[in-house]
Amino acid sequence: MNEPMNIHVYEQIEELYHDASKRIIEHIQKHPETTLGLATGSTPLGVYQRFIHAYQQGFVSFKKVLSFNLDEYVGLDRHHPQSYYTFMHQHLFSSIDIPSSHIHIPNGMATDLVVESKHYDTKLSKHRIDIQLLGLGTNGHIGFNEPGTPFTSTTHVIELKESTRKDNARFFKSFHEVPQRAITMGIYSIMQAKEIVLIATGEHKAQAVFDMIKGPIHLACPASILQTHTNVHLYLDYAAAKAL
Ligand code: F6R
Repeated sequence: MNEPMNIHVYEQIEELYHDASKRIIEHIQKHPETTLGLATGSTPLGVYQRFIHAYQQGFVSFKKVLSFNLDEYVGLDRHHPQSYYTFMHQHLFSSIDIPSSHIHIPNGMATDLVVESKHYDTKLSKHRIDIQLLGLGTNGHIGFNEPGTPFTSTTHVIELKESTRKDNARFFKSFHEVPQRAITMGIYSIMQAKEIVLIATGEHKAQAVFDMIKGPIHLACPASILQTHTNVHLYLDYAAAKAL
């Protein structure tokens, strides 16, 4: 029998972000050498704001933290305004005390992306992730593991679904500028984390949330594999939890 997923549902999004961030910050306070798995997109912004605030208030230090980002677009220079490298520096890393040598983000400009993927997995295998922060795609993806990705996958290059490119077009000047491929930690890599904190907000995530929690464990909803993880915390607002 699997451990049930821990589901936290909130009316107030501020409280959701407060609690989810507190969970991670308290872990770092107790274990300064925490290895964090980090996500990009709109969802984690509320967490990163609270990390920065806690750091500025002197409540937490990231000096000994190691970070591994889930994914990066293929073909975007790291200094491109929409690269996840830029995103992470803008929204978190430049405002906290994490040393740059502790930051890991897949390189989507590597000449050999297979070698880059293996290289990332080697680093991951040396530093098991303590807490993995996840968002949820409207199609149930975690990282950029789109529906159909094997549960045994490690870091790899993925062709982004049109729906994902449309979802992310809001960050670009036009849909056509959204890269077609990304390099992402695999589902197996994500499942190795000791603890998973997934946040989903908004009605547009309600179907994916339902499939993740109540649906069959199936490749059609990559996040459904989280039903088999022994330490998952889901932070949902009412709208995202609507179908439950
Ligand atoms: C981002 C990532 C994706 C996003 C997901 C939700 O690094 O891996 O899985 O978490 O696409 O994106 P937002 O938060 O923008 O709705």
